[in-house]
Amino acid sequence: MSITRSSHILLFTLLSILLILGTDAQPSWPERQAALFIFGDSLFDAGTNNFINTTTALQANFFPYGESFFKYPTGRFCDGRLITDFIAKSAGLPLIPPYLHPKFRFIGGANFASGGAGALVETNEGFVATLKTQMMQFEKLEKKLKSKFGDEEAGKIVSKAVYMISIGGNDYYFPISSNSTLFQSHSHEEYVEMVIGNLTTVVKKINSKGGQNFGFVNLGPLGCFPLTRALAGTSGACLSELNELAKLHNRALPKALDKLANELDGFKYSIFDFFNAGIQRINNASEFGFKEGKKACCGSGLYRGNFSCGGKRGEAEYELCRDPSEYVFFDSIHPSERTYRQLAGLMWNGSSPTAGPYNLRSLFKLAQEK
Ligand SMILES: *[C@@H]1O[C@H](CO)[C@@H](O)[C@H](O)[C@H]1NC(C)=O
Ligand SMILES: *[C@@H]1O[C@H](CO)[C@@H](O)[C@H](O)[C@H]1NC(C)=O
Ligand SMILES: *[C@@H]1O[C@H](CO)[C@@H](O)[C@H](O)[C@H]1NC(C)=O
Ligand SMILES: *[C@@H]1O[C@H](CO)[C@@H](O)[C@H](O)[C@H]1NC(C)=O
Ligand SMILES: *[C@@H]1O[C@H](CO)[C@@H](O)[C@H](O)[C@H]1NC(C)=O
Ligand SMILES: *[C@@H]1O[C@H](CO)[C@@H](O)[C@H](O)[C@H]1NC(C)=O
Repeated sequence: MSITRSSHILLFTLLSILLILGTDAQPSWPERQAALFIFGDSLFDAGTNNFINTTTALQANFFPYGESFFKYPTGRFCDGRLITDFIAKSAGLPLIPPYLHPKFRFIGGANFASGGAGALVETNEGFVATLKTQMMQFEKLEKKLKSKFGDEEAGKIVSKAVYMISIGGNDYYFPISSNSTLFQSHSHEEYVEMVIGNLTTVVKKINSKGGQNFGFVNLGPLGCFPLTRALAGTSGACLSELNELAKLHNRALPKALDKLANELDGFKYSIFDFFNAGIQRINNASEFGFKEGKKACCGSGLYRGNFSCGGKRGEAEYELCRDPSEYVFFDSIHPSERTYRQLAGLMWNGSSPTAGPYNLRSLFKLAQEK
């Protein structure tokens, strides 16, 4: 893995040894530190799909993924770090490893996110760790933490942690592009209700285990990604059906979470407005330091909208820009590291309506004080 990651791991190993030597023999996660648990899709996947039975269409473990920061393809769908990597850094945590990594150790959290995953079981079924599967993996880890640290300490880790979730985009994109019967047989409103319903089920489950602090991203402008813009044709327009679904979802999400805040014990949350932060950068790239907002850095065809970055997904030829930091999008679906860095800054530091009711800085502060 990366140099940074191994030096973090080394640092934490040394720290743990010191703690064990310095106190009693009980191995202990530094109590004052809030952990970070990560769920969702390719926005947050740090390598999960390297370790499951899937297809290269849902993997990013080949060049040029990772080229800007890691100098090595980690499985992240990006040239460098993701939002969650920047958040971990701001929170004083190391890079949070994928739970499914064969050498996984608990060094301050776990990442369960899987590229292509949805809140609905049917979304890319058989090729992803669905949100429900991710939840089951979290429960497994919780049991392991209990046997390692004892019930009380493990309970503290879970209740002091921050839980970040990005889910939903795949539940809309894939069913539309494959004209799925599940999608066709419901009104858009009903379908959104199912997606959000499954998300809230998982949130309730984590809360029943003691989790209280949650950071969500709403859906980005799904119809304005290079992939979907190319599907809309040469007019330059966004794919409006997808944007409308994203907006419908984004209106329903805060309502559902507000309701949970009234029902659940100690539930506090942050929603980051990915839709607006995204559309601003796409439409006004230079305002944010980019040269190109609509076309991807890596891919082929119109807007480099073909999902062919790396040449391993059935189309061997692809174009790669010289400097990914000039582009809002790295591949036809996923933002560049520079975009993620900006978004993470807003999520950490921003205020309503960009990040609210809490931002992640205040959520981590609350968690830390528990
Ligand atoms: C992996 O997926 C392939 C194709 O769907 C299937 O043939 C194979 O049996 C699967 N392997 C495992 C271990 O699930
Ligand atoms: C989510 O929705 C699916 C239907 O796609 C359903 O089978 C599943 O049990 C639901 N709940 C969770 C927690 O995933
Ligand atoms: C999608 O499926 C429905 C039936 O489920 C059918 O009526 C419709 O023509 C299909 N649309 C496309 C674009 O294939
Ligand atoms: C782009 O930036 C200009 C100047 O700051 C601003 O007036 C305009 O509203 C922005 N457009 C969008 C779509 O954000
Ligand atoms: C991009 O995808 C389209 C649609 O699948 C295909 O016709 C085209 O050949 C691909 N490649 C390029 C370079 O456009
Ligand atoms: C948060 O805001 C402070 C003060 O403006 C700034 O110094 C810091 O870099 C910001 N942090 C992030 C992660 O953007």
